[in-house]
Amino acid sequence: MRVVSGIQPTGNLHLGNYLGAIRNWVKMQDQGECLFFLADLHAISQPHVPAELTANTREMAAALIACGIDADKSILFNQTQVPAHSQLQWLLNGTARMGWLNRMTQWKDKAGKNREGASVALFTYPVLQAADVLLYQATHVPVGEDQKQHLELARDIAQKFNNDFGNGEEIFTLPEPIIPPEAARIMSLRDGSAKMSKSDPSDMSRINLTDDADSIMQKVRKAKTDAEPLPSEKAGLAGRPEAENLVGIYAALEGSSVDAVLRQFGGQGFGAFKPALGELLVSSLAPITERFSRLRRDTAAIDAALQKGAAKARVLAEPTLERTYQALGLLR
Ligand code: TYM
Repeated sequence: MRVVSGIQPTGNLHLGNYLGAIRNWVKMQDQGECLFFLADLHAISQPHVPAELTANTREMAAALIACGIDADKSILFNQTQVPAHSQLQWLLNGTARMGWLNRMTQWKDKAGKNREGASVALFTYPVLQAADVLLYQATHVPVGEDQKQHLELARDIAQKFNNDFGNGEEIFTLPEPIIPPEAARIMSLRDGSAKMSKSDPSDMSRINLTDDADSIMQKVRKAKTDAEPLPSEKAGLAGRPEAENLVGIYAALEGSSVDAVLRQFGGQGFGAFKPALGELLVSSLAPITERFSRLRRDTAAIDAALQKGAAKARVLAEPTLERTYQALGLLR
């Protein structure tokens, strides 16, 4: 089992990242060989401030360690320090089809109506993501629901490359997405139809892993809801996206299920449920926030950890990169 996943170092780690992906990363460290990276090359596909990218890369590394990623057990690094990611992307650009990339919902959402003005990197972003996982022969890729389509594209690229250039052999392993059942898609606290995201202009829409107890309680208190009490069964959440989201967050944090939470809170209003959710959030996140505020100050230790991880990743990447060059008939 080879586990590979990444996160863009743009802004803070939020509850969606944590419950959708990072918590699974931490668990999977005991199940197989894991590589986790900061997708700093992906971050330049959108306008960015260079000094902020540097700072955010270090901060996100500290945040991952604070969440429980152990840089001795797992390989933790940033893409930039492993040039094989960019190299393999170029090699896969010959296999990826324009039509496949045009169908990517993230591309459509992020480019919006201004496709002509979007960067080429935003368009070919999913090919770099395919390179990220195929480079290491990943078998399992723990991600939130929003990355499922990108993973399917990685499988399509792998399959076509194997067919076109494998001579009967499998050059790339087809990776499986691992998506958590209760927290695959954490929604904004202000709008149950939009996912919780770093790019939402309202900070009230998300819980950041750096938020203190007061702001967590306030964000939950102000979270959008409806006037009905909670139902006692899951079916009663249909058409109530905000309620469904808050109950889903509770279940994910508690490690139970939506049905179990509704058995406990069914019939009660948000006046009772919100403080309980706020307290559960505060007690779950406090140890992470505390570790993070300590770790983020030691930039020398973070840089050393990333360099160590990158050195290991470069070694693991080389055989697949070499085979890919060979399969394409490129003299090296
Ligand atoms: P990114 O940085 O947007 O998010 C990192 C991880 O967090 C998950 N996530 C969520 N899960 C549930 N609810 C949410 N509201 C939510 N928001 C984010 C994402 O699904 C993701 O797992 N393109 C990727 C980074 C990447 C990558 C890769 C991932 C680059 N290369 C290779 C896996 C494999 C991204 O921008 O994730």
